[in-house]
Amino acid sequence: MKQILVTGGAGFIGSHLCERLLKEGNNVICMDNYFTGRKRNIVHLLNNPYFELVRHDITFPYYVEVDEIYNLACPASPVHYQFDPVSTLKTSVIGAINMLGLAKRVKARILQASTSEVYGDPIVHPQQESYWGNVNPIGLRSCYDEGKRCAETLFMDYHRQNNVDVKIIRIFNTYGSNMRPDDGRVVSNFIVQALKGEDLTIYGDGTQTRSFQYVDDLVEGMIRMMATENFTGPVNLGNPGEFTMLELAEIVIRMTGSKSKITFMPLPSDDPRQRKPDITLAKEKLNGWEPKVKLEEGLKPTIEYFRNL
Ligand SMILES: NC(=O)c1ccc[n+]([C@@H]2O[C@H](COP(=O)([O-])OP(=O)(O)OC[C@H]3O[C@@H](n4cnc5c(N)ncnc54)[C@H](O)[C@@H]3O)[C@@H](O)[C@H]2O)c1
Repeated sequence: MKQILVTGGAGFIGSHLCERLLKEGNNVICMDNYFTGRKRNIVHLLNNPYFELVRHDITFPYYVEVDEIYNLACPASPVHYQFDPVSTLKTSVIGAINMLGLAKRVKARILQASTSEVYGDPIVHPQQESYWGNVNPIGLRSCYDEGKRCAETLFMDYHRQNNVDVKIIRIFNTYGSNMRPDDGRVVSNFIVQALKGEDLTIYGDGTQTRSFQYVDDLVEGMIRMMATENFTGPVNLGNPGEFTMLELAEIVIRMTGSKSKITFMPLPSDDPRQRKPDITLAKEKLNGWEPKVKLEEGLKPTIEYFRNL
């Protein structure tokens, strides 16, 4: 039985990951400070004797004997990471230092949940891992983007300097149950607005595209990445299927049976025009991994989750 630490385990992705790791027969320690995560996401796991919940802020050192660490702690949506940008940076940077120090000490394998935001507003499309990105270092999104870029640097330096067994994944837009209704991300925004019968807000003219990955596909990719030998990444995990915001809005309105209309608002600063992962490397290194869940298939349980909230 492996002892696995999941930081940010009470969040959207972390809660799904904890559930899957338990199903596979592991001991799971879920660490979270509940900044954006919620107990409700993991309350159904509390009676499982192999699950432990720890309230802890990752910017402070944490000592535990583990075999693997999944480092997810970090607010992920602009409304939350811009609420306290200095704290966001500390979470990414000091959090990474603390977890890498722990991994070094106990010889654990450690996976960093990085992000497609490291590509910034990309001038290369679709984005391959070899692309270095186009990031504004002083903008409103920089606390997140640059924090994640610095965390990647730390991961690679601990690997080169101290031989820490590191894995870096770059997650593209992911959706599913346990997302917060107030996180301002496009999928949750649209679903909540449609269910309330409010107009769906599109920022810009709606022609900007995004790719949407269902959370189960991501978790599968994370577990496969953790199991790789002699491969640090970074590797993109995302769904290459591209949709414009306008298309997504129309699908959500249809699937919720809502009478909502679509309204347009000005584009926020540094909002990328296009985002689409190139997943060639993931397919090659992760035993043919690729997203299996189609957008409408994944939206169904997600809409149900929001309806029941
Ligand atoms: N959801 C996506 O589409 C997406 C895309 C790219 C990258 N990611 C990354 O995946 C990870 C998980 O994202 P998510 O969507 O589940 O977001 P989330 O906000 O639901 O989860 C983040 C979790 O980290 C916890 N946390 C924040 N600061 C902390 C701190 N200082 N100490 C301890 N815990 C702390 C939060 O309470 C929350 O439970 C994040 O690192 C995020 O950057 C997510």
